[in-house]
Amino acid sequence: MVERRPSQPIEPAVYALSTPGRRGYRPPALDVPTRPVEELIPEELRRDKPPALPEIDEPTLVRHYVRLSQLNHNVDIGFYPLGSCTMKYNPKVADAVAELPGPGALHPLLPPEMLQGALAILAELESMLGAITGMDRYTLQPAAGAQGEFTAIKMIRAHHKANGNPRKVLLVADSAHGTNPASGTMCSYDVVEVASDERGNIDPAALKEKLNEDVAALMLTNPSTLGLFEEHILEVAELVHSVGGQLYYDGANLNALLGRIRPGDMGFDAVHLNLHKTFGTPHGGGGPGSGPVGVKGHLAPYLPVPTIEPTQEPDGGWTLNWDRPESIGKLNAFLGHFLVNLRAWTYIRHHGLEGLRRVSENAVLNANYLMALVKDILPPAYERTCMHEFVASAKGLKEGAGVSALDLSKRIIDYGFHPPTNYFPLIVPEAWMIEPTETETRETLEAFAEALRTIITKEVPEDPELLHGAPWTAPVRRVDEVRAVRELDVKWPEEGPEAG
Ligand SMILES: Cc1ncc(COP(=O)(O)O)c(C=O)c1O
Repeated sequence: MVERRPSQPIEPAVYALSTPGRRGYRPPALDVPTRPVEELIPEELRRDKPPALPEIDEPTLVRHYVRLSQLNHNVDIGFYPLGSCTMKYNPKVADAVAELPGPGALHPLLPPEMLQGALAILAELESMLGAITGMDRYTLQPAAGAQGEFTAIKMIRAHHKANGNPRKVLLVADSAHGTNPASGTMCSYDVVEVASDERGNIDPAALKEKLNEDVAALMLTNPSTLGLFEEHILEVAELVHSVGGQLYYDGANLNALLGRIRPGDMGFDAVHLNLHKTFGTPHGGGGPGSGPVGVKGHLAPYLPVPTIEPTQEPDGGWTLNWDRPESIGKLNAFLGHFLVNLRAWTYIRHHGLEGLRRVSENAVLNANYLMALVKDILPPAYERTCMHEFVASAKGLKEGAGVSALDLSKRIIDYGFHPPTNYFPLIVPEAWMIEPTETETRETLEAFAEALRTIITKEVPEDPELLHGAPWTAPVRRVDEVRAVRELDVKWPEEGPEAG
């Protein structure tokens, strides 16, 4: 008998737990003289009435937030094979270092003389990322992969402009992540897609047709978002460079190549990395990220200010250089997300080159093992050895039994797994994009494959409604995704604080 009841009730909003007079916290006594509020805040900025803050005792509050934290699936609870997102287990040592009182309490407005330790770490991180990717210089400012793309394309634009013509067109692969065309558009380029061939590579013949001296750059990730290594990458680099274009590496998939091959050696001129995937910080959940950009020497003059440079002092040290006339400007507040960068530094130091090589080795091994376990029930879109992830297609299930990739995703939740990415990349019908990552054990992969086998070989033929109605046990059932977009409402009704 299949359980068709949520395993945990949905949690009320914190305002619903409020009882007048309850307290969970008392601020410490003031250590400065008291002054009337009228002296401190001008009348037009003062509230008419006190804010309607919830009044709650400490245990109720702690339990509320612990229950809330348990409503979300996360990588510390279970398997999270969300393709293209590298939801791997992040070693706690990186958190421990980021929580040390020294780095954690650094004030971002401290002058460089008082930030020497932090600057030394950032400079070392820049050079380690340079060694890992084969790039000459880095900026650690961008706060996410998407912002890294924007930064790098702006630099590429500045490079072309300095050569007399910013150019008009940015090429992206048809399997590209949505942020690639968005970054191109934000940098005023016309974005043009290049088709993939029947093996999932970017098609050199299709590329040749699109290439001319209006092309500023081609954005590519390798392995692609199909989880496949670009077999013609050297030829692609040569073609793009032959018209004076730049080759841009979306490094969100670096997990597949860490410590083995480098985008710089494949001919890429600029890269961004998602430190909040590959290097010790979780991806998603709205937390801070970091999308450093690395470039070859000819693009270095355009790096955002300030850059971190060695001082000319005899005893060494680091300084911030704002005097860079060709820079695209300041990109982000302060020096970027310092603690995310510190986690990445810790992660790299902790693993060393040998450890990083094992990361990519196991990421690729796990993806190929899982693909082999499920390929008879959910065929891969391309019959090739995959890299760190693979894309399967539920097209056959949809046409045969009327069960879609979305239904599969919803049902796998009832087995305690986070669903893979579905419907991406767009070129694969009914796509299921699975990225197991290197941190999962063989037992976890086998349990996931077994659950999928039960769903596809037993539940689909016997009771397809079980899939159409899933998830049954999650606190939130199927949501109306269209309504969420069309009628976005992020305010809690009635119980919420009134605007004061
Ligand atoms: C291939 C690829 N490129 C770019 C990005 C954008 O990164 P971010 O989410 O940090 O903006 C992602 C994110 O998942 C990605 O998978």
